[in-house]
Amino acid sequence: MNKLRHMMNPLDFSVDELEALFDVANDIEKNMDAYSHKCDGKIMATCFYEPSTRTRLSFETAMLRLGGKCLGFADAGSSSAAKGESVADTIRVISCFADICAMRHPKEGAPMVAASKSLIPVINAGDGGHQHPTQTLTDLLTIRSLHGSLKNFTIGLCGDLKFGRTVHSLINALTRYEGIHFIFISPNELRVPDYITEMLDSKGISYEEVVKLDDVMPRLDFLYMTRVQKERFFNEEDYIRLKNFYILDKEKMALAKEKMFILHPLPRVNEISVEIDDDERAAYFKQVQYGLYVRMALILTLLDMTDAHMNHELLRKF
Ligand code: CP
Repeated sequence: MNKLRHMMNPLDFSVDELEALFDVANDIEKNMDAYSHKCDGKIMATCFYEPSTRTRLSFETAMLRLGGKCLGFADAGSSSAAKGESVADTIRVISCFADICAMRHPKEGAPMVAASKSLIPVINAGDGGHQHPTQTLTDLLTIRSLHGSLKNFTIGLCGDLKFGRTVHSLINALTRYEGIHFIFISPNELRVPDYITEMLDSKGISYEEVVKLDDVMPRLDFLYMTRVQKERFFNEEDYIRLKNFYILDKEKMALAKEKMFILHPLPRVNEISVEIDDDERAAYFKQVQYGLYVRMALILTLLDMTDAHMNHELLRKF
């Protein structure tokens, strides 16, 4: 029997394993129907202690598209967490019902605690301001699909770089690829944490920190916009002062390369004007679609079901 495997951090998978995962995701993109019975009889639990639209529904759609079924809860208040049940006990219970679990929790490390007690694969669907690995897999697959590889580009990360877990996860994951230059664009109060710049320094990876978006726009191949994370602010006044610091509009887009893609983990608040949505470079809804493909590929991988009917060329990589 294969060892139980979880997804807590994108770095849990080697670069080669991620390439294989993305190949499966791209195959799903082209041949969705061929995957529609791969998880017949399997059940996914989605245990969300924090709000979500994309991640939870994307996991549930992924399992349904694979022929499996889903159960779960969408807020802690409707689970026995409201009565004081621990995450460790909850996952032991879920292990009796489901074959795989995706968990989002406001406390950093909670999905890791769950994984340590679980009898089924656990996927971290976001833990506090820490990690959001499947958003990172989504971002990497989107970049690879649009750029052709995960090497040699300049990416600007803009907005709330302090609290944005998707940003922290993505930077960490991209450090394993060659030729990437990071430009961090944020107000001083929302700078990327020191542990990240220290990590980049220790690896000799090039980056810049700037406040003005306009100055760096012409150099970017990707612009990763983020919202200011209201739920992680201690002070409402600070949030109000910073929430509209960046608004990407047509005027700013006129400064960008013809092939600069805009990414955003979503939800968006005001940081991207809706007038940009029809711009060919706006890739954030396409990104959501890639999120479905990569979660389907991840479910198959963690359930060790990549061999059911899969393209044998892809399989050899696992
Ligand atoms: N990108 C993302 O995590 O969105 P949700 O919070 O809606 O799941």
